[in-house]
Amino acid sequence: MAEKQASSRPVIIAGNWKMYKTSEEAVHYVETLAPLIKKSQASVYLAVPFTAIAATAKKAKALRSRLVIGAQNMHDAEEGAFTGEIAAIMLKEAGARFVVLGHSERRTIFKETDAFINKKLKKALSEKIQPIVCVGENLEERELQKTEEVLRERIEKSLEGIPPKSFKTLVLAYEPLWAIGTGKVAHPADVEKAHLFCRNVIRENWGEVAATQVPILYGGSVKPNNAADLLKEPDVDGLLVGGGSLIAESFYEIVEVSNSVQKTKDLS
Ligand code: PGA
Repeated sequence: MAEKQASSRPVIIAGNWKMYKTSEEAVHYVETLAPLIKKSQASVYLAVPFTAIAATAKKAKALRSRLVIGAQNMHDAEEGAFTGEIAAIMLKEAGARFVVLGHSERRTIFKETDAFINKKLKKALSEKIQPIVCVGENLEERELQKTEEVLRERIEKSLEGIPPKSFKTLVLAYEPLWAIGTGKVAHPADVEKAHLFCRNVIRENWGEVAATQVPILYGGSVKPNNAADLLKEPDVDGLLVGGGSLIAESFYEIVEVSNSVQKTKDLS
């Protein structure tokens, strides 16, 4: 049953560049990656800095690449006096097709709350920008065995009030904070347990169809050498890759791993 569900969901390998790369560097990266992923089964996403969205989206289009360009954050307001912020329509105009919301760096460094993330999510959905909503526990919460409690709260509050049909486009990412940028990848069995738990929270709140549809990505120190073990798990539908996405060739290795794992999943 789990395998059957897994194979019906899209596989997404998403890179999150954070505050790295100028527009020029970003375009060069796209020129390198686009031909490599031409035949890949997985959907390949890149969350680039705001200043690189327009140039990378243009380049991907010119190369007729399926590469999906997106943003790492946005504001929920239509427009207004929000110095330093960016609106959904601006992202769309630049060519962004998805947006990462509630990344732990936004939650911890910039003090974003579930309520704020919820507003952004509703705006992204109404503007038809695909949201990737991140949830995860920190080390202290993990040690206190509060992982499930935290995941439930993050999901129920960040996603509150959205209709079940939103799960046709919404993507969830499980990113344990202690694994982000630390080189400490979570154990695949623990990742599967967390993903299954998240899926069950979605089932309880939004029903069976939503739970079956929603792709759940894992993020936190993903590299080419640990990607296969993570992707083999039935409820891991893809990966959100930070540091491991900064060099096109090594990010491509992760995409390649996903293609071969998917073949074995499809056969099972
Ligand atoms: P990392 O980051 O792969 O560098 O650990 C993941 C993320 O923050 O999305």
